[in-house]
Amino acid sequence: MMYNSKITGLGYYVPENVVTNNDLKQWMDTSDEWVQERTGIKERRWIDPATGDNTSSMGVKAARIAIDRAGLTKEDIDFIIFATLSPDMYFPGGGVRVQDMLDMPTVGALDVRNQCSGFIYSLSVADQFIKTGMYKNILVIGSENHSGGLERSTRGRGVTVIFGDGAGAAVLSRSSEKGKGILSSHLHSEGKYARELMLDGPATGRWVPEILAENNPDDVSYYPYMNGQFVFKHAVVRFSEAIIEGLQANGLQKEDIDMLIPHQANLRISQFIQKKFQLSDDCVYNNIMRYGNTTAASVIIALTEAWEEGKIHDGDLVVLAAFGSGFTWGSVIIRW
Ligand code: UT7
Repeated sequence: MMYNSKITGLGYYVPENVVTNNDLKQWMDTSDEWVQERTGIKERRWIDPATGDNTSSMGVKAARIAIDRAGLTKEDIDFIIFATLSPDMYFPGGGVRVQDMLDMPTVGALDVRNQCSGFIYSLSVADQFIKTGMYKNILVIGSENHSGGLERSTRGRGVTVIFGDGAGAAVLSRSSEKGKGILSSHLHSEGKYARELMLDGPATGRWVPEILAENNPDDVSYYPYMNGQFVFKHAVVRFSEAIIEGLQANGLQKEDIDMLIPHQANLRISQFIQKKFQLSDDCVYNNIMRYGNTTAASVIIALTEAWEEGKIHDGDLVVLAAFGSGFTWGSVIIRW
């Protein structure tokens, strides 16, 4: 027997500490005009270390809200899926930390390493577990602490100004409502472009002693690297493909989209997609202006905000789409 899965709870958490584009000038040569014009970002949240926030704890804060809104308790959750590129530790991942911090029973916890499309991949995995009947309620979290690992200097500005911290969570539950919930998900990758958006080391391909032995002051391999224009060009193509694929799989047209939640990588990418699919402003949700790019957290924070603002209604067709490092990309089509 196949079950349906639907989102029953949503929550998000962002650190209180607001960093405006002008604030960035204390570390690097940049300007509010440059950042807004190229990315649409006005400000982002960066963890204030004094608060003790980290990737897992932000995920926990978002998760508590989502579980509560689902009308469930932590005992009802059968499985945890945690997406991040910025775990608190090299291993283990954030999922087990959430299990511990929420004092949950010994349910399984899986970490997903798919960067900007991490939440899309996670939701798809959760959907399969529910549709086969293995689990009833799955906690799916996307969380990132970027600020802890960004290069705060003019050398790093091309990457550093874009990224922000935050977390979002969803509870995906078994449902008997036919034709509602997650209709389909579509996942892709193209690993030949792994080095176009990456953090090289420390990792086993380049471990700490090697980095230390080189003693190279110009070594920036432990900061994220992005070939910005190359990534941008691929993003606009792959976003479109993933959305079209999702619509076609369900016999739907672009006119059927009630709400598109694109990964918040760059406002220009979202605007390009909006124009291409001829969507009105109330059919696309963007919050990159306030949070920057929060990678695995971006789609779920945006979905939660759109829902909180009453922009998603019963029966709406909601499309989630993301593209990022790997390259990996994908879409999830939901009948709300
Ligand atoms: O989330 C995962 C997927 N990521 C994406 O989809 C990101 C896709 N890429 C982008 O969004 C854009 O490529 C960026 C926003 C990252 C960069 O914008 P761009 O228009 O591609 O700028 P650029 O990197 O080509 O740099 C243009 C100029 C350079 O100066 P010159 O060489 O023309 O003199 C940079 O040094 O802008 C300079 N620049 C900056 N200036 C002020 C780069 N970063 C900054 C900065 N402030 N923060």
